[in-house]
Amino acid sequence: MKIAIINGPNLNLVGVREPGIYGSRSLAEYLNELVAQYPHVEFSLFQSNHEGAIIDELQRIGFDFDGIVLNAGAYTHYSIAIGDCIRAITTPVVETHISDVHARESFRHVSMIKDACATVIAGFGLDSYRRAVDWLIENAK
Ligand code: DQA
Repeated sequence: MKIAIINGPNLNLVGVREPGIYGSRSLAEYLNELVAQYPHVEFSLFQSNHEGAIIDELQRIGFDFDGIVLNAGAYTHYSIAIGDCIRAITTPVVETHISDVHARESFRHVSMIKDACATVIAGFGLDSYRRAVDWLIENAK
C-alpha cells in the first residue's frame, strides 16, 4: 500500500509556531517516527509553502497511490484550485488538521476541499496524522 502525507504552508514550522495551538514537537520528527510504525506501507512525505507545488504533487501521485493525508494548512479555507485538484485525481484524500478548526476563528470553519475529500480528521494534535493513516488503511483499497 502506498500513502502520501502532504503538508501545506507553515507546517514546516510546527514545533516552533504557536506551540499553544500546534504543540512543541517538530512535525518532521513526528512523521519520521510515524512512518517507521508502518513497515508494510510505502510512504511519500512532502511539504510546501506554495499552492502550485502542492497541486503538482497531488497530480503526480494522485493516480497511483492508495491514499493521501493532506493538511493543506490555510489553503484549506480558500483554495478552489486545491479543491478542484482533489476532484480531478482518483486517490482518496483525507483532509487532516492538527487543531480543531471548528473551535477556532470562523474563517477556519470554511473548507474549500472537504466536499472533495473522503473524510475529515481534525483536532487530535499530531495524532490526527496517525488517525488519517489508519482511516486510509481501513477504508482505501
Ligand atoms: C491547520 C489549521 C489551519 O487553519 C491553519 O491555517 C494551519 C494549520 C491545522 O493543522 O490545524 O496552518 O491546518
